[in-house]
Amino acid sequence: MGLAVDALQTWCNLQTATLNADPGWAVGQESSQLNLQVGATITTSNSVELKTQADLAMKAPSALAVLGLAAAASARWHEAEGSTIQYTTVPGYFLQDDAATNPSGFDYAAWNFGLLNRTYPTDGYGGGGGGGGHQGQQGHGAASTQWQRFKRWVDYLNSNCRNDGRTRYKVLIMGRHGQGWHNAAETFYGTPAWNCYWAELDGNGTATWADPLLTPQGAAEASRANAYFASRLRDHGMPAFDSYYSSPLKRCIQTADGTFSSLDLPRNKPFRPTIKELFREGISIHTCDRRSTRREIRDFSPASFRFEDGFAEHDELWEGAQSKGETDAHQRARSKTVLDDVFAHDDGTWISVTSHSGEIRALLAVLGHREFSLGTGQIIPVLVRAEAVRGGAPAPPTTSAPGFTYEATCTAPPVTSIAGQGCVCSTTGGVPALASATPTPSLRQL
Ligand SMILES: *[C@@H]1O[C@H](CO)[C@@H](O)[C@H](O)[C@H]1NC(C)=O
Ligand SMILES: *[C@@H]1O[C@H](CO)[C@@H](O)[C@H](O)[C@H]1NC(C)=O
Repeated sequence: MGLAVDALQTWCNLQTATLNADPGWAVGQESSQLNLQVGATITTSNSVELKTQADLAMKAPSALAVLGLAAAASARWHEAEGSTIQYTTVPGYFLQDDAATNPSGFDYAAWNFGLLNRTYPTDGYGGGGGGGGHQGQQGHGAASTQWQRFKRWVDYLNSNCRNDGRTRYKVLIMGRHGQGWHNAAETFYGTPAWNCYWAELDGNGTATWADPLLTPQGAAEASRANAYFASRLRDHGMPAFDSYYSSPLKRCIQTADGTFSSLDLPRNKPFRPTIKELFREGISIHTCDRRSTRREIRDFSPASFRFEDGFAEHDELWEGAQSKGETDAHQRARSKTVLDDVFAHDDGTWISVTSHSGEIRALLAVLGHREFSLGTGQIIPVLVRAEAVRGGAPAPPTTSAPGFTYEATCTAPPVTSIAGQGCVCSTTGGVPALASATPTPSLRQL
């Protein structure tokens, strides 16, 4: 933990940070660094034309007075344009990124989401930090909660590390949807039979698992998350999210709505989630990974949900009808695409993402976080450092990445499946036949 703090201090040049100053530290002592930070805000504002760096440095003091320290939400990350965004998970803040924490059975609700009890260099500066924006001038830190002090530190990292505009920190809190009917069915049939046969159907006559809804257990998991967030916001000074994102699959929309819509949120931070195509689950041949049409999702979703720009009417990504599913490499590449989109266009720091087990696994991989698999309804926070690296190779466009390959199936419930080899399909009165992931046509006909 000490090492991580040391590294951060180096990045942010804390020697100049004058933490010995009175509550005016963020403005007064750091003005020469903050000029460029505010300049970045100016250049990304639609109403102000692009200025030279020298102009910005001169304009900054008055801009500070006008804008305050809180950067406007949804500003574009101008400095990242034409650059590659590189992500790192900053360790030392949450239990989940510590190798000593066993992910199996880990429950966010037993551990304050995993937030470590620790000190930060900014402790003792500023007040409670309840509402939005940067708290720097309201009282003293003694009564501050862990979340309030963590928020102050992250605000500090952003205000000082963004002095050249090329680094941003965000706290991503990613939740897996509650149990859906597809999860129940996988348990009911067993994973081999599920993968090789049942998951390719829309349901079994009793349950529907094409773009499935939450089971009663899944809805209860969302309610539990709702109660836990409510207690953190009310009693523990956890900041409200600046932005919310959801996968377009119905189980995530239900989970996000059940978790957040009834929270008592600050007026300037309402629950207005954005549905983003690329936060969806790995696009396997399973019908639970095929999304509904935009119109169906609109009709299904509460009015607070909105679509990202360009969200297509039909699911243009699912290739299950051709027995082709997304590869891990493709999923990681498009997960980086969606993260880049969020980091480049959302100036908020506290970001909620409601997604899926496989997709959160891919996002964690892109963020350089260790593997940490989540049960249904589980939640993981990550402190992310994003750096815009000039001249880095641009990410390959998702559509050109070689990304979909055959997935094996059987035309009847299988005998079993063998990892790495495929489905062992039953044949009436004959020898079981292996349907592999690169099947010969004859095998696939069985
Ligand atoms: C932090 O301290 C509180 C109170 O002692 C405790 O309940 C909680 O489990 C601790 N959190 C961690 C992550 O150790
Ligand atoms: C269909 O699957 C569900 C699990 O999702 C199971 O509870 C139910 O019993 C199954 N129905 C039939 C007819 O097998």
